[in-house]
Amino acid sequence: MKVILKYYLILINNRQALYGKGATMNILEIKNLNKVYGSGETRVDALKDVSFSIEEGEFVAIVGPSGSGKSTLMHILGGVDRPTSGEVLIGQTDICKLSETDLAIFRRRHIGLIYQFYNLIPILTVEENLTLPILLDKRKPNKELLNDLIEKLGLEERIKHLPNQLSGGQQQRVSIGRALINHPALLLADEPTGNLDSENTKEIMKLLRKFNKEAKQTVIIITHDERIALSADRVITIEDGMITRDEARIKTTNFNSDEKAEVRA
Ligand SMILES: Nc1ncnc2c1ncn2[C@@H]1O[C@H](COP(=O)(O)OP(=O)(O)OP(=O)(O)O)[C@@H](O)[C@H]1O
Ligand SMILES: [Mg+2]
Repeated sequence: MKVILKYYLILINNRQALYGKGATMNILEIKNLNKVYGSGETRVDALKDVSFSIEEGEFVAIVGPSGSGKSTLMHILGGVDRPTSGEVLIGQTDICKLSETDLAIFRRRHIGLIYQFYNLIPILTVEENLTLPILLDKRKPNKELLNDLIEKLGLEERIKHLPNQLSGGQQQRVSIGRALINHPALLLADEPTGNLDSENTKEIMKLLRKFNKEAKQTVIIITHDERIALSADRVITIEDGMITRDEARIKTTNFNSDEKAEVRA
């Protein structure tokens, strides 16, 4: 009970830092986003005038063919790349206007990133990998909250292991934990199950959904897996750098269900 209370206090603090007191609003608002790579003959317009917004607590899947701009979009939303033009508002902050240093701090505190290939630090143990974002922020991990997270991730028996001593599913659970350790408002995942078998895929999806439900964690997940897209509350389709569909699903579903969708825009 005490852990849950502490956890919610941190969440409320983080949200207030983002939105100001009392307000509930879009966690993410993207306006007229463009991204151009290269120039002349090698110019690629990877994102073309992309605009949409996401409310706090939504579980959104982004789908689309290879090369359509999904990872480009995710990198910009996650503050690891900058757009050529446009705005990315996370809470009330336009992250495109932040300096490199401020962006790095903002990212660490408010955005959790999960990749297909885990990106764990090979020489650090599971526990060290998990707490890295806190240590980088020059803070001390709260032992109680850390143990609670480790238990939720099912990693109790592995905290002193190195990443190469873990299965793919376990490594991905560590990377989810690392993304969540600072209780970010926004969790972004680029093909998080792309490297996993169907059993581990189910486990990871259940875990993401659990954090989404219990902590109102907003989740945006890029996927090629139709079942994952069907399990999301909303599916945004991107083709050739543009949003071509935006479907809100009628009801929140579990990973195995296949309910109908309703076209939103
Ligand atoms: N650093 C880069 N320099 C130049 N072009 C790039 C760069 N990164 C991506 N692109 C191009 O931008 C377009 C979008 O790429 P992106 O990686 O966003 O696609 P994606 O939808 O994530 O594809 P996939 O499903 O294969 O991961 C592609 O045409 C790609 O070749
Ligand atoms: Mg990609």
